[in-house]
Amino acid sequence: MVLIGLGDYSKKKESEPMTTYALGKDGIAAEALDLQQRIVGQDSLNFVMQAGLKTGDQVWEFGSGPGSMTFDLAAQVGPTGHVTAIDQSAEHLQRLEEQMHEKRFENISTQVMDIEKEVLPAHEANFVFGRYILMHLNNPEGVLKKCQSILLKPGGRACFIEGCWDESTIQGPYADELTLFVKSVVALGKHCGVDYTLGRNLKKMLEKTGFSEIGSKKKMLTFTGSTLSVLWQRRLHEMGEKFIEAGIASRSQVENWQGIAEKLPQQSGTSTMHSPVYAGWGRVSSPE
Ligand SMILES: C[S@@+](CC[C@H](N)C(=O)[O-])C[C@H]1O[C@@H](n2cnc3c(N)ncnc32)[C@H](O)[C@@H]1O
Repeated sequence: MVLIGLGDYSKKKESEPMTTYALGKDGIAAEALDLQQRIVGQDSLNFVMQAGLKTGDQVWEFGSGPGSMTFDLAAQVGPTGHVTAIDQSAEHLQRLEEQMHEKRFENISTQVMDIEKEVLPAHEANFVFGRYILMHLNNPEGVLKKCQSILLKPGGRACFIEGCWDESTIQGPYADELTLFVKSVVALGKHCGVDYTLGRNLKKMLEKTGFSEIGSKKKMLTFTGSTLSVLWQRRLHEMGEKFIEAGIASRSQVENWQGIAEKLPQQSGTSTMHSPVYAGWGRVSSPE
């Protein structure tokens, strides 16, 4: 049984104040992001290359987390390039730095920053990358606009990869429960003032914020077996108490989901979730 030892929803727990970022920043949250990277990593790299990442680029990565994509970006830009990994979580960046020393990467630096609140430096980057970050922001268009008009150099490029929870389809045992959970996640996003379906609007947002030469792609990802079980348990750990506080799901519903998520890999028949990622990219026009 794959257990991550998290779910006792029988008692009211002390939860942290509700912020727009509903996921965690501890070691288990970092492991979940790395697990997700195994599913979405290769596609992400393909999107970034299509978006025009080059050797020598000065990259800013928004919401890098513990660095699930950072090392791939740093390897692509090589020793003449650089990746500045930005995150609001000092804990995630600490983990990234530990790996950076272990793996002997010398072209990465980190910066703790809230990209919504802080002023970005002018013309520092010629490539901005972010995955699963805009969907966690109150004002994603404001951040895209800052990238386009301040942070990126003329001719610079941006590439974002975002999910769209309400386009997930589920088959197999407990499909109804998983579908209800997915709807609850979308509702929690709305409650927190963020949009977990942002992916499908990404292209429009890039157009609206002044990028040119826009490209976009959609890819369906498949989550199944123990990966689906662990990620579902993890999301319940992070969001369960918030569902209850927001009145989106009852305590017994959350406990029931936790039990199902734990025993998912033992079911005869496989539960499978197909969920899309949308990539969108664009360029800042150079002066004539
Ligand atoms: C879902 S994780 C994605 C991490 C990584 N990009 C990946 O794909 O594995 C989102 C990350 O964005 C960070 N984040 C959320 N809101 C932020 C903000 N306003 N400013 C900077 N970082 C933020 C979180 O701390 C978290 O590490």
